Amino acid sequence: MSDQNIIHQTVRARYGSIANGQVSCCGGSTGGASCCSNETTSTALLYDEELVADLPVDVTGLSHGCGDPVTIAALRPGEIVLDLGSGGGIDCFLAARQVGETGYVIGVDMTPEMLAKANANKAKLGVENVEFRAGQIEALPVDDASVDVIISNCVINLSPDKAAVFSEAFRVLKPGGRVSISDIVTEGEFSPELRADLAQWAECVTGAIDVEQYTSLMRAAGFSNIQVVNKVDATGIIEPKPVMPRIYSARITAVKPI
Ligand SMILES: C[S@@+](CC[C@H](N)C(=O)[O-])C[C@H]1O[C@@H](n2cnc3c(N)ncnc32)[C@H](O)[C@@H]1O
Repeated sequence: MSDQNIIHQTVRARYGSIANGQVSCCGGSTGGASCCSNETTSTALLYDEELVADLPVDVTGLSHGCGDPVTIAALRPGEIVLDLGSGGGIDCFLAARQVGETGYVIGVDMTPEMLAKANANKAKLGVENVEFRAGQIEALPVDDASVDVIISNCVINLSPDKAAVFSEAFRVLKPGGRVSISDIVTEGEFSPELRADLAQWAECVTGAIDVEQYTSLMRAAGFSNIQVVNKVDATGIIEPKPVMPRIYSARITAVKPI
């Protein structure tokens, strides 16, 4: 099996177990924590309270992001939105409200157990303008130039081929389309030994790359107007370790030129 397949398999196993309630996102005892390692974090730290107030705990309890990519996306009614790594669906459901019934939201995820939870949440909420598709973000099951806005919350750091993710994102966006990402990035590099730690990779830690490299990959894929809107110390979102580069949770936006 290739290294990339092994990473996918490790990540899928982790999020499958989380979806089934077998482990919390953090390896701790409580579910509903944030992206990765600190079980005291919750949706309250990531989203405006009012935004998520009326979402059922089945949705908020499966939120494993590291920020709020929906709000910075400034969605408009009628837009078509794609969520890379949609998990239990929280950002898809928030986006669906904002684009309204003339808009549409597609969530793509590679973990069958997460897709099952997302579809159960969709049925519970009774929303019709959201669809969850099985697939990898490195080879999106989405037509060329068919999407207005791409959002993603704490997922691209998990990919073993981030260049392919950005190239696919560029392919499926309409000219003039935009991306709004919340993700874990670093300043500096992990050692090869830490990079090889797949348990920490799957916890959204050692798969993260330097923010300059991240934005360079986006530029190489063709994006313009790339902006790191904000970047906060990720302590509280992931568990800090003694020998690591500095780790941040960042909001990054960009545009596909017309
Ligand atoms: C940290 S969780 C974030 C889920 C969701 N975005 C949220 O905010 O709650 C990561 C999700 O991305 C999915 N994922 C990770 N790597 C992926 C890949 N290469 N292709 C598709 N899905 C992926 C996992 O299955 C998991 O559901």
